[in-house]
Amino acid sequence: MSIYFDNAATTPISAEAKAAMVEAMDVFGNPSSTHAEGRKAKAIVETVRKGIAQRLNCLPAEIIFTAGGTEADNWALLTGIRDFGIQHLYTSALEHHAVKHFAEYIEKNHDVQVHYIPHDAQGVHDLAGLQNHLERHQASGEVAMVSLMHANNEIGNLVDLTALSRICEATGSYLHSDTVQTMAHLPLDFKAIKVHFAACSGHKFHGPKGVGFAYVRQGTTTQPFIQGGAQERGHRAGTENVVGIAGLGAAFNHCVDEMESDIQAVKEVKAHAIAVLQSAFPGVQFNGMSGDMEKSLYTVLNFYHPTLHEGGMLNFQLDINGVQCSGGSACSSGAVGGSHVLNGLGSPGGTRISFSRYSTKDEVDQFVKILQDIVAQV
Ligand SMILES: Cc1ncc(COP(=O)(O)O)c(C=O)c1O
Repeated sequence: MSIYFDNAATTPISAEAKAAMVEAMDVFGNPSSTHAEGRKAKAIVETVRKGIAQRLNCLPAEIIFTAGGTEADNWALLTGIRDFGIQHLYTSALEHHAVKHFAEYIEKNHDVQVHYIPHDAQGVHDLAGLQNHLERHQASGEVAMVSLMHANNEIGNLVDLTALSRICEATGSYLHSDTVQTMAHLPLDFKAIKVHFAACSGHKFHGPKGVGFAYVRQGTTTQPFIQGGAQERGHRAGTENVVGIAGLGAAFNHCVDEMESDIQAVKEVKAHAIAVLQSAFPGVQFNGMSGDMEKSLYTVLNFYHPTLHEGGMLNFQLDINGVQCSGGSACSSGAVGGSHVLNGLGSPGGTRISFSRYSTKDEVDQFVKILQDIVAQV
């Protein structure tokens, strides 16, 4: 028996992505070559770019393929210091390490003041306070950038990206959002949401690992993150990962096209998990806003119960019982001191279960039964 409830860490590859990748493996040309074999490879890359742009309501030229979400996040912040000349960076202590560690690097090595936007015990950020600070910088002619993730990968908290983008637009501030957990999971319309940068990672929606893209708003001046050839219109050097891009595109298109019914189905699985956990373990708490169906991402639920989490062995016990989930984010699960997100909320701990289009209510019931058996054995 195996239950995979760690979809915020990564997802299984879909049949659509696999088929597109197998087909692309026979196209061996270099997309930069102008001969027929090269043009075939180029056609794959450009067709994927167009399909993604159409679904995000943006221009194909605004999609730059990268080696995943971390690279896109790093590039956005590097652009802030190198090309925008920012003096202030506003971010959160609850960001994924792809942003958090780069912000710490900037703080140490550059003449930029990094500010951490205050949040409450549920991880909800003070956007009104942020607006005041940005207005002050605008009035004194200082350049500011905001980097705030759309959905937190550990607790699922959603930021109102439309409202945030309006604040940034009104105050002349740059905006980057780590949208890795919401790309192909929530509708995103980049004509309406005026971010300068957004990040995508293929393996979060049943595509391959090591491939993703940065959305870079037209007119945003950037130097490449990787120096070299003229690939990706000079934005990102290196021969394109054609097979990976083919898989990313097929997974992205499929998930966006099926999004409405997937959201409905996965929401039902999550609502069921909340209800059965509450009934089986009275007093169970949900970290952050993850227990709120409206204010958190429908794929993420992070729970804590003193009996279950006493001794800190729950995830290990779940693993030996065939359940794969996470104590925080995959990147921090083995880290000394545990999850910076749960620590930041002052939470005593938690288990993150995260769902995909392949998760079922039956699996949730089996999961809760396993939790009951673990408690009964203590
Ligand atoms: C919110 C968030 N940002 C960034 C990343 C990094 O993406 P990648 O694994 O493609 O580098 C992840 C993946 O764990 C994530 O969940």
